[in-house]
Amino acid sequence: MTETINGYTRRWWKEAVVYQIYPRSFMDSNGDGIGDLRGIIDKVPHIKGLGVDVVWLSPHFDSPNADNGYDIRDYRQVMAEFGTMADFDELLATLHDAGIRLIVDLVVNHSSDEHVWFAESRTSRDNPYRDYYIWRPDDGNGPPNNWTSIFTGSAWQKDEATGDYYLHLFATKQPDLNWDNPAVRGEVYDLMRFWLDKGVDGFRMDVIPFISKVPGLPDLPEDIRAKPQFLYANGPRVHDYLQEMRREALEPYDTMTVGEAFGVTLAQTPLFVDDRRGELDMIFQFDTVEIDRGADGKWKSWFLPDFKAIFARHDAALDTHGWPTAFFSNHDNPRIVSRYGDDRPQWREKSALVMAALLLTLKGTPFIYQGDEIGMTNYPFTDIAQFDDLWVKGMWRQEVDSGRVTPEAFLANQNKVSRDHSRTPMQWSSAPNGGFTTGTPWLAANPNFPEINADRAAETNEVYRGYAELIALRHAYPAMVYGDYADLLPDHPHLFVFTRRTADESFMIALNFSADAQPCERLPDTGAHAISWSNYSASEAPDASTLRGWEARIYKL
Ligand code: GLC
Ligand code: CA
Repeated sequence: MTETINGYTRRWWKEAVVYQIYPRSFMDSNGDGIGDLRGIIDKVPHIKGLGVDVVWLSPHFDSPNADNGYDIRDYRQVMAEFGTMADFDELLATLHDAGIRLIVDLVVNHSSDEHVWFAESRTSRDNPYRDYYIWRPDDGNGPPNNWTSIFTGSAWQKDEATGDYYLHLFATKQPDLNWDNPAVRGEVYDLMRFWLDKGVDGFRMDVIPFISKVPGLPDLPEDIRAKPQFLYANGPRVHDYLQEMRREALEPYDTMTVGEAFGVTLAQTPLFVDDRRGELDMIFQFDTVEIDRGADGKWKSWFLPDFKAIFARHDAALDTHGWPTAFFSNHDNPRIVSRYGDDRPQWREKSALVMAALLLTLKGTPFIYQGDEIGMTNYPFTDIAQFDDLWVKGMWRQEVDSGRVTPEAFLANQNKVSRDHSRTPMQWSSAPNGGFTTGTPWLAANPNFPEINADRAAETNEVYRGYAELIALRHAYPAMVYGDYADLLPDHPHLFVFTRRTADESFMIALNFSADAQPCERLPDTGAHAISWSNYSASEAPDASTLRGWEARIYKL
């Protein structure tokens, strides 16, 4: 095995394709309406059939579920609703036997307020755990500063027992840990070793840039009050802590790490991922998933040239010492077909595969979110009561209850942006609730499950098969992983045409982001250059100079 390709050091996580599981919504094995680990074990063949290399499991730890497991009560216990530690061990072994690695979610910017550390911390100012969290006295003038929670409202909560305020950059039930306290860092490295010793292959790190707080906790300046993450991610010690974490916890193991880099700019990205610095392997950048958000965070329409420009920018930001990620959805985002594609029945599958072709041919480790591989779409919300997400409920109180936004306008926006679109149950079959549960699901299944489900995908739906083919193609050609990226038509409003090249191999990826046929003068001569993959069947002969509606073609040049 050559050690480098096109200047990049070969690493398994650069060549891997990752599949994210949100356990609450994946598969319920015991009819209580909540997905569980045994359900995942039963569905390993579905995951294996795609050909993915790694599963990222969203939090499976003991939690009171204020934020669906992103509020952890005990980092060494499995959430009772999801099963037992024996189930976890069996899932890990089953995945490993199938040749699939497992990474788990490390949520350590904050814990649950029900974690024993916080239960102790809040009891008195001189409790040994007091300094595990960030407390400030009440000076009688309200909260200690103007910081806002990402989930709306003040980031400070006054606590009964001592009358002091604690900091929570997310929900009140998610107090921020004080990383400047070495004891906290020691606890985190310890719990990481606990899971690594079990055999997990790495971590996705939740809002990891927020762990170091800006000294003195200065007020948010006016210009970023709507985007406080750009202050929260700028603490001075984040890189020291990540380097220490690598030395103390990760180094002896063969791991992959990916940080959720909320608030990190492109210019700051190499500081997190340059392989000479010993911090993270990769981060998630937010540019693609914020393409349709205005300054106020609400939905806005977007244009393909702006979208394409992101990839060129990202490519320029990193040299061969850094490695990017590619993702268009996860448990915090709407469904990719509804958002970037066209979810009308006649274009659903074609446009899902245009997005799959893009995801799986970009430079950067691709992350597939559960359900996208069968073309799941947004949920048609008509009532606030249909949502689960605490963020939506907080915003409803802030905007609708206060009379600032009408219920209709609020719902119209949430139908575009809500995190709950991706959290509805995985659609396995045309059985009730899409075969996710025999009971009552914790969040209703999308009513389109009779048409969109994994059983149908196996028979007639092209999407699952297309994902599997694209993953196999990526695995077969190093240029798909390590090749140079070049956008051939950056200004075209409907076409995305780019190449991936190494010295030995070249591919052209041609994607039509519209339902109309689009002439394209850049397509190669099909006589000389074979089409390696397309989302139109071979019997529908391709036009050498035109891409049909939502057509995707990959040429080997
Ligand atoms: C991350 C998670 C999100 C969670 C938040 C707080 O953004 O992806 O689901 O709500 O962190 O932990
Ligand atoms: Ca269950």
